[in-house]
Amino acid sequence: MASAETKTGKILIVDDEWTIRDVLATILTTEGYQVTMAEDGAEAIKKLDEDTFDLVITDLKMPNIDGMEVLRHLSTLNVSTLGIVATGYGSIESAVEALRLGAFDYITKPFHLDEIKILVHKAREFQSLQAENQNLKRELKRTSRVENIVGQSPSMLKLDQLIRTVADSDSTILILGESGTGKELVARAIHYHSDRANQPLIPVNCGAIPEDLLESELFGHIKGAFTGATMNRIGRFQMADGGTIFLDEIGDMSPKLQVKLLRVLQEQTFEPVGSTQTVKVNVRIITATNRNLEKDVADGRFREDLFYRLNVIPLHIPPLRDRLDDLPLLVDHFIKRFNKSKGRRLTRFSDEAMRLLAAYPWPGNVRELENLVERMAILNGEGEIGTAQLPEKFTGLSPAALPVAGAPAEIPDEGIDFNRLVDDFEMGLITKALEKANGIKNKAAALLNIKRTTLVEKMKKKGMLGNDGE
Ligand SMILES: Nc1ncnc2c1ncn2[C@@H]1O[C@H](COP(=O)(O)OP(=O)(O)OP(=O)(O)O)[C@@H](O)[C@H]1O
Ligand SMILES: [Mg+2]
Repeated sequence: MASAETKTGKILIVDDEWTIRDVLATILTTEGYQVTMAEDGAEAIKKLDEDTFDLVITDLKMPNIDGMEVLRHLSTLNVSTLGIVATGYGSIESAVEALRLGAFDYITKPFHLDEIKILVHKAREFQSLQAENQNLKRELKRTSRVENIVGQSPSMLKLDQLIRTVADSDSTILILGESGTGKELVARAIHYHSDRANQPLIPVNCGAIPEDLLESELFGHIKGAFTGATMNRIGRFQMADGGTIFLDEIGDMSPKLQVKLLRVLQEQTFEPVGSTQTVKVNVRIITATNRNLEKDVADGRFREDLFYRLNVIPLHIPPLRDRLDDLPLLVDHFIKRFNKSKGRRLTRFSDEAMRLLAAYPWPGNVRELENLVERMAILNGEGEIGTAQLPEKFTGLSPAALPVAGAPAEIPDEGIDFNRLVDDFEMGLITKALEKANGIKNKAAALLNIKRTTLVEKMKKKGMLGNDGE
């Protein structure tokens, strides 16, 4: 069914025969369209350049500039105007050619009035569906959660909103957060929600690369710039041209490179190492650090002017212990992920296990949680994770806290027999686990979070088993 808006729109009618122009104009004006006419191809092209139309209905055979040429011109205009060609009987081939040039449809002359009405409605309906589709896509981008960033706590919802707001702005972003809070994840989300999404995102970990190498890594070098520079090499900034560079651990950057970076921020220019030739780039800069940069500025370790340039839009990612509401969602997310990637069938963490997780301070934040779930998936494979499966740091049963038979409170001057004490300690733990598991080795191994084979191996070594393994 044609919606109301498909009966409106601007139509350009192109035909060298005035009778045809007249008939078409009359029908379509009566239908509610706004009609403009052109007597030949040249006039049509001029009108297309001056104004925008929703549809062009053009005759194919016209002196000088024909309908095909009009269509060709239309296709260069980057507009959503649809072309319909009107052709005489016997020239179906040219109609097919017109379709190849992007015409929406064709109609053969002489045409019935209804035929032309239906075709025009069809074209307008197609256009309105296309527009609707585009709007939906835009809306989806605006309202959908930033992919992969799990969290429904108020602070994460705010962060999510902020990411989408700043993504398109092209401004410099400083992402702050403890280790493992998701700084890189956020940097990626910003890039992929920005207009630069189809251009490269180049990450550089400034903390992991020694200073002299970092300069050439970032800005490139020319052949002979230093020993080992056997050829010209472009740097990450040039690789990121048109896109985004993500400078991770920016707080670790040396004073010399801080100066060079400041200039890129101010002028988008730099010189590769050993070169006098200035390179200009168009790069969005996102930086991240888990350090307190303000303190580094106060202590003279980080340039104040650079800090202000980088800190245009700061994004704070809260530590996991401050958003424990997100714990169940994150656990669920990682269980699904590792079940899939490792072919496991973990179901959940028991309520008691979740309580222990919530009581833990998570110094390594989401990464630490991710590692825990991965470890549980590898060790347990399926079903529910209970407190017994959790590592000691959650249960409070850290080795240091366990009473160890014969272990001295302090190391005496004469030293200790390390191997014997560790041996005794292991023996004690294995015995306790076996007691609790009623002697079932599988169960005891699970309680100790070790493989059954490891348990059996250890028991053999300690003489707890016969050589037949039982
Ligand atoms: N909100 C989240 N939802 C899902 N996964 C997350 C979330 N936050 C972090 N992660 C995951 O945790 C891991 C660590 O994240 P990321 O590398 O982005 O942290 P980071 O802050 O850059 O850490 P570092 O300071 O150590 O470099 C990644 O595997 C990431 O996918
Ligand atoms: Mg990181």
